[in-house]
Amino acid sequence: MEVTESFSITEHLENVFARAISLAFPEYGNIPVIIAPVNSASAKYGDYQCNNAMGLAKKMKEMGVNRTPRDIANELQKCCPLSPIINKLEVGGAGFVNVYLSKDYAAQSLKNILRHGIKPPRVLKRRVLVDFSSPNIAKQMHVGHLRSTIIGESVCRLLEFLQHDVIRINHLGDWGTQFGMLIAHLEDRFPDFLNKSPPIGDLQSFYKESKKRFDTEEEFKKRAYNRVVSLQSGEPNSRKAWQLICDVSRQEFQAIYDRLDVTLRERGESFYQSRMLSVVDFLRNKNMLEHDEGRQIMWPNEDRSGIPLTIVKSDGGFTYDTSDMAAIRHRIEEEHCTWIIYVVDSGQSTHFNTIFKAAERCCILNPTAHRVHHVQFGVVLGEDGKKFKTRSGDTVKLSDLLNEGMKRSLEQLRSRGRDEILTAQELFEAQEAVAYGCIKYSDLCHNRISDYVFSFDKMLDDRGNTAVYLLYTYTRICSIARNLGDDFCYLLKVLDTVEIVLNHEKEWKLAKTLLKMHDIMIKCSKDLFLHFLCEFCYEVCTVFTEFYDSCYCIKKNKDGEIIEVNRSRVLMCEATAAVLRQCFYILGLKPVSKL
Ligand code: ARG
Repeated sequence: MEVTESFSITEHLENVFARAISLAFPEYGNIPVIIAPVNSASAKYGDYQCNNAMGLAKKMKEMGVNRTPRDIANELQKCCPLSPIINKLEVGGAGFVNVYLSKDYAAQSLKNILRHGIKPPRVLKRRVLVDFSSPNIAKQMHVGHLRSTIIGESVCRLLEFLQHDVIRINHLGDWGTQFGMLIAHLEDRFPDFLNKSPPIGDLQSFYKESKKRFDTEEEFKKRAYNRVVSLQSGEPNSRKAWQLICDVSRQEFQAIYDRLDVTLRERGESFYQSRMLSVVDFLRNKNMLEHDEGRQIMWPNEDRSGIPLTIVKSDGGFTYDTSDMAAIRHRIEEEHCTWIIYVVDSGQSTHFNTIFKAAERCCILNPTAHRVHHVQFGVVLGEDGKKFKTRSGDTVKLSDLLNEGMKRSLEQLRSRGRDEILTAQELFEAQEAVAYGCIKYSDLCHNRISDYVFSFDKMLDDRGNTAVYLLYTYTRICSIARNLGDDFCYLLKVLDTVEIVLNHEKEWKLAKTLLKMHDIMIKCSKDLFLHFLCEFCYEVCTVFTEFYDSCYCIKKNKDGEIIEVNRSRVLMCEATAAVLRQCFYILGLKPVSKL
C-alpha cells in the first residue's frame, strides 16, 4: 500500500464516519461527527473512538424510534467505507466504535516523513493578516510586547506551515500627539538635526524631558501642538524630525527581533493617516457619527449599547480607535484578507470587540466571510506574583532580560561541564538555543489567556515540560545517528529496503504519537492556542524516552564497538527528530545537535 497524502487522522476519521452516518441513517446525515483519541494505556479500546451512537439514539427516541446505542454503533461499523488507515473497528462499551489504526499505514507514513519531510495537512487556504508585537515609538518595549512578539511569530509560523497566505504586520505606535512635543524638544536640544543625526541614545529619558516641558512651559506646549499639525500636514522639517525619532526606536526594536529571529513588516499607525481621513468621511456619509461634547463618536451597535468609539477628538485629531477603524478597513478592502488576527494583551479586549462590532455595523466586515480574532494573553508576573518589574520597580528592559537569559544559560552549560566538551562555536549556539528557547517556550507552553510567572529558574529546569528538556532529548536522538556515522547516511539512502517494524508496544506507541502531529497542528490553528503544540512536543519526548529505554537501537560491546544495529528503530529515531524539528521551528526553538 502506498500512502502519499498527509492528513490529520481525526479529520480523516470524521470523513469516514460522516459517510457511515449518512449511509446508515440518511435522515441524520448532517450531525457533527465526534471523534476522540483514546488516551487509555490499555490497547483494548483502540486508538480513536467515534462517539456518535449515544446522541443518535437520543435523537431517534425523540422521533419515536427506539434503538440502543450499541445497535446503532454496530450499524455504523458496518457502513464505514474502507480506509487505508483503519486496521479494525470494534463496538465497545455503551456504544462506542473503537478504531484501531493500521500499522502498515503508520510505517508508511513514517517512511514518508523520512523521504519527503513533513508535509502539511490540507486545509482551506486563507489570506491572513497577523498584527503583532506593535510597540510604541519613544516608549519602552515591555514584556507585554514581548509576549505579543513571541506568540505572534509562532502563530505566523503555524499558519505558514498550513500553507495560508500570511502577512506579518507590526502596527507600530508611531503617530499621535506625543510627537508634537518630541519634535519641539528635538528642535531645542539639537537645532542642527536637519544636517546632523542627533545622538539620542536614550529615547525614554528624551520622552520624559519633553513631557515635563510640555506640562510646565506654555510656549513649548503651544509649539508642540503646532508641530502635530505640521507633521500631519506633511511639512518636511517636522517629517524629518519624526523620522529621526522613529529611527532610534526602530533600531532598538530591530535588535530584539534579530535576537529572537522574528520577522515583521512595519506598517505603523502613521501609514493610515490618509485612510483615517477617508474612514471619517465614510462613516459620516453612512450617518454613523454622532456629536458628543465636541467629539465625534460612533456606537458599535445600532441600539447605542456598548462603549462608543472616539473617531474625531474635539481638537480635530484622531485616536487609537480611528487608526484601528482605518486599519481594519484597509485590511479587508485593500489587502483582501479574510482572517485578521490581533495578538494583543487581554486588557484591550473591549477595544477590539468594539472595533469588530463597529466594523460590522458599517458593513466593512461581513462576519460570514471574514474572521476577526483577538488573540489575547494575560500579563507577565514576577516570582512574587506581582507585575513583572525590576528590583527598583522600573519596567524591565527587554535587552537586559535577554542578556540575563544568555548569562544564566551559559552558567548552566558550564555547570554541566559542556564548556569542556563543546567547541566555542557549539557552546555559543547551545547558549543561544537555551536562552532564547526557554524564554519563548515558557511563554508558549501555558494557556496564553492566563497570566504567567516569569522565572528563569523554572524555565531552565531540565525536567518537566521545558525547552531545556526538549532540546536535550533532541540532542540525544541526534547522537544516535552520530554513533552510526556514514552507516546512517547509507541507511537513509536505502530506506526502501528497510522495513519499519512496530511490534514492540513502545515502538507502536511512539509511532502513534508521532502521527498525531497533524491533528495537533489543526487543533492549534483553530483558536490559536500554541500550548497544545508544546504539550505534544513534551509527549513526543517522554514517549520517545520510554521507547529508547526499552528498545535497543544500537548494541555495543564492552569496548564500545557497535555489534548490532536495529535499523528500523534507528529510522524511528530519525522520524522523531524530524517531527520535533518541525514543531520546534513553529515554537521558535533552535534545535542544536550538541548540547
Ligand atoms: N501599540 C499598541 C500598544 O502598545 C498595540 C497595537 C495593537 N494593534 C492594533 N491594531 N491596535 O498597546
